[in-house]
Amino acid sequence: MHTAALARSIPFFPYPRVFLSEEDSLTRIFRDVGRRGAFILQEDVRRFEENLARFLGVRHAIGVANATDGLLIALRAAGIEPGAEVIFSSHTMVATAAAIHFAGGVPVPVECGADHLIDAGAVEAAITPRTRAILPTQLNGRTANMDALGSLANRHGLAIIEDAAQALGSRFRGHCAGTFGTAAAISFFPAKLLGCLGDGGAVITNDSAVAARIAALHDHGRDESGNVTGWGLNSRLDNLQAAILDFRLCKYAGVMERRRALAQAYREGLADVPEIVLPPGPAGDADHFDVYQNYEIEAGRRDALREFLKQLGIGTLLPWGGKAVHQWEALGLRAHLPRTETLFARVLLLPMHAWLTGEEVEIITEAIRAFYGRGRCA
Ligand SMILES: Cc1ncc(COP(=O)(O)O)c(C=O)c1O
Repeated sequence: MHTAALARSIPFFPYPRVFLSEEDSLTRIFRDVGRRGAFILQEDVRRFEENLARFLGVRHAIGVANATDGLLIALRAAGIEPGAEVIFSSHTMVATAAAIHFAGGVPVPVECGADHLIDAGAVEAAITPRTRAILPTQLNGRTANMDALGSLANRHGLAIIEDAAQALGSRFRGHCAGTFGTAAAISFFPAKLLGCLGDGGAVITNDSAVAARIAALHDHGRDESGNVTGWGLNSRLDNLQAAILDFRLCKYAGVMERRRALAQAYREGLADVPEIVLPPGPAGDADHFDVYQNYEIEAGRRDALREFLKQLGIGTLLPWGGKAVHQWEALGLRAHLPRTETLFARVLLLPMHAWLTGEEVEIITEAIRAFYGRGRCA
């Protein structure tokens, strides 16, 4: 294909589709919830929490306002005390570190490994007598090797809190992201795997005492009878968003399969381009079931490639605005993580969402091949 023939408008993420693809059903949900006046902590939240917990194979799911709050609440519910060091991968959203900070903890950033997820060796090296928890981000729809992190946590008496904002339904050795530690947070931001029409999140746990603390923390410190049992926040999942999420959860298995098929299509289009490093494929190994929240590649001459794709109308994104968390000087984290810093000069997110077509993936992969002078039909 000639380069000019590749020009298209392929946005990185088509936000209007979040509504337009299901406009009739969503309008029906608005009307139903509105007519019932069911806005805060109503039946739809309870039903979604139950269905989400069942889907994940976990005992408790509590809807919250967003995953950032969810992580903060999970850390507080797990007993993280002021001054406690919490180890996390610097390749994550600033929200992960912010949650540790606002929980009173000390965020300790470490390197990621070849699959861009937290590196267990780096975690071990960062453990001190003040370390209280490990907070792995289950990045890009992939779950870290939780055997390695679990045995480290056991050996050193540390809690595990998972940032599963990007990993609904992703599995490691048959268990879902978010179910390996004390608690975890999931995000329902519109561009997430399961997106609502605004902000939304959930905290999950298998521990009933932790669940009771989470429930109180997300609703002004109140228990089921309305008694104030301690300090709390207002971080409830809107009932309307819960109704939308419950409707979408029914079809979520198809979304995961679609994303995995698109990842395979990218792999087939790009596997033989030496300038590109691809994420693990969907059939990569039996331990991982990846759901591809993002399709994150490493690319030689990344910025020039990005500009070339932009000229063709193909949207891409630099993860986290182009910097790992420790590289934002305003946060004062002062770490030096050479592997992560090198990676951040190369990483690029290609379009990946449930509405992306096979033809669009072909156009994107052909454009990348053309950039590196490896076009199939130049
Ligand atoms: C890895 C990660 N952690 C935390 C968050 C925060 O989620 P929310 O926007 O729901 O607060 C996000 C969302 O972008 C994320 O990708």
